[in-house]
Amino acid sequence: MTRLPLLAVLFALPLLTACHEGVDADETPADAPLGGVDVEPELDPDPFEEPAPTPAEDPDLEEPDLDEPDEYDVVGLLGRCLYSNPFSGGDECKAYTGTGWTLARAEADCTDGVMGAPGRFDAELDCGFESELGRCAVGESDGDGHVLVFAGDDPASCQGTVIGCETFAGGRFSPGAPCGGETVSGVPSSEAFIFGEQVCAPPADGVAGAGPDGTVCTWDGIQGCTEEGRRFVDQASCDTAYRQRGYYPVPIEAGTAPDDPRLDDAEYMAEVEWVTAQVESCSCTCCHSSAITPSGPSMWFIEDGPIWLDGVSDAGLAMFAGFADSESFGAYPVIDNNGFDRSRTGLPTTDTERLQRFLRTELQRRGVADPEAQDWYAFGGPLVSQARFEPEVCDADVGIVDGALTWSGGGARYVYVLEADADNPGTPPNLFQPEGTLWHVMVDPSDAPFGPGFAYGELPPGAAFQALPAEGPAPTLAPGQTYYLYVLADIIRPLERCLFVYDG
Ligand code: HEC
Repeated sequence: MTRLPLLAVLFALPLLTACHEGVDADETPADAPLGGVDVEPELDPDPFEEPAPTPAEDPDLEEPDLDEPDEYDVVGLLGRCLYSNPFSGGDECKAYTGTGWTLARAEADCTDGVMGAPGRFDAELDCGFESELGRCAVGESDGDGHVLVFAGDDPASCQGTVIGCETFAGGRFSPGAPCGGETVSGVPSSEAFIFGEQVCAPPADGVAGAGPDGTVCTWDGIQGCTEEGRRFVDQASCDTAYRQRGYYPVPIEAGTAPDDPRLDDAEYMAEVEWVTAQVESCSCTCCHSSAITPSGPSMWFIEDGPIWLDGVSDAGLAMFAGFADSESFGAYPVIDNNGFDRSRTGLPTTDTERLQRFLRTELQRRGVADPEAQDWYAFGGPLVSQARFEPEVCDADVGIVDGALTWSGGGARYVYVLEADADNPGTPPNLFQPEGTLWHVMVDPSDAPFGPGFAYGELPPGAAFQALPAEGPAPTLAPGQTYYLYVLADIIRPLERCLFVYDG
């Protein structure tokens, strides 16, 4: 946490969190390479339907077992399939980005053979080659969406690759360097995760805020909240939240009975109103309010009948209350978030005890006797599995080889050298530079990714800068010592994560 102020300075306001990028809601959702990454789907079939459409075939690939949350990461980048195209002979890679994939389906798709020949499936990892002819975005981001990445450096192959993408796969082609695109492969700026900014805007209701000159200051990313008593959407835009987490509609209905006795319980209804106001102060409403969302809310929404909380699953309520872990989404520090704390709860709140008390009672009413003692799965999908990832030894040509940082998979936006036992880097702001980060190099989302081959402590060509240490040289590495190399194509899109011995 001590690093937060530093980060804030570094990015000139970015904090923020949750997931990554994704769908530019009203523009080209089908082209977005990744779906969302929040929460995993619901535990019980009722009261709503499947969270994302799943292609009908593969009857043996049922919804995964609820006891195995890692199997459950159906949103976000699930992994990649590396294969060789039997027609062109070229190396290709398929990144499973659509929210309709399950881990099991993606793996089966790969081993069955994307182009007839079976491929190698790597869970969680993104696609990337040192030189790419281009990338082809196919399908729906809320269904079987995927990105095909074509290795190669021969411009003569470009035309065939474009036809393969657009005519045969029905996708949208973005050229790599040999075909006239960006010089370094990787996630382009138009799709990269963007950091939240603190926006100080005039108060929508005319009542002076606590910011400079009576403005109201609000972090505009996921987990950002405006001043208590105000609405997030009056003070900040949802655009950043949509880019970070990925918005898509998932229709449900709370279905509260008109004669539900809680409706006559004034005290209960007052608490519902209070929780609603807490949600309205935060960016959660960007996707969880029918008044705001471009094409319908993502599951629960605050206009859903007199008690919208009835549309939230048991696990979802446990997430709100912090009984179910959702730490991997990251959080703003409470002092920087208008008094809204997310360190112990999933829903940012100005009163942790009050929120937990209400939700404990509500869960007990639903028959969950001791909500704190339940074995809830952790929320965060790929963020959770990335946080829990245990690195193994790097391949011989990966790490610091002959003085140069090397990794496979092409252009990166974030490269870390960490102590061998450091935690895995996670989402900004608070999990972005874990304890034990020795050296961290990155580019701003608006700049192009960078490739491998530069010396430890020096910067690659282009716009990359040293994010840690904030000043001064990179710490000296000890020969014979093991370090952890962590390379991200983009936030939550790892390319390489392994341990190497520094050979001096
Ligand atoms: C950019 C869109 C977006 C924002 C912002 C967002 N969510 Fe969500 N949320 C979703 C989507 C989409 C789903 C449905 C499926 C999934 O998990 O991807 C979801 C599902 C959930 C669920 C699961 C519901 C259930 O019944 O199990 C919870 C809980 C949740 N969100 C809490 C929050 C909280 C708390 C916030 C604010 C801090 C928030 N969300 C902000 C998009 C968003």
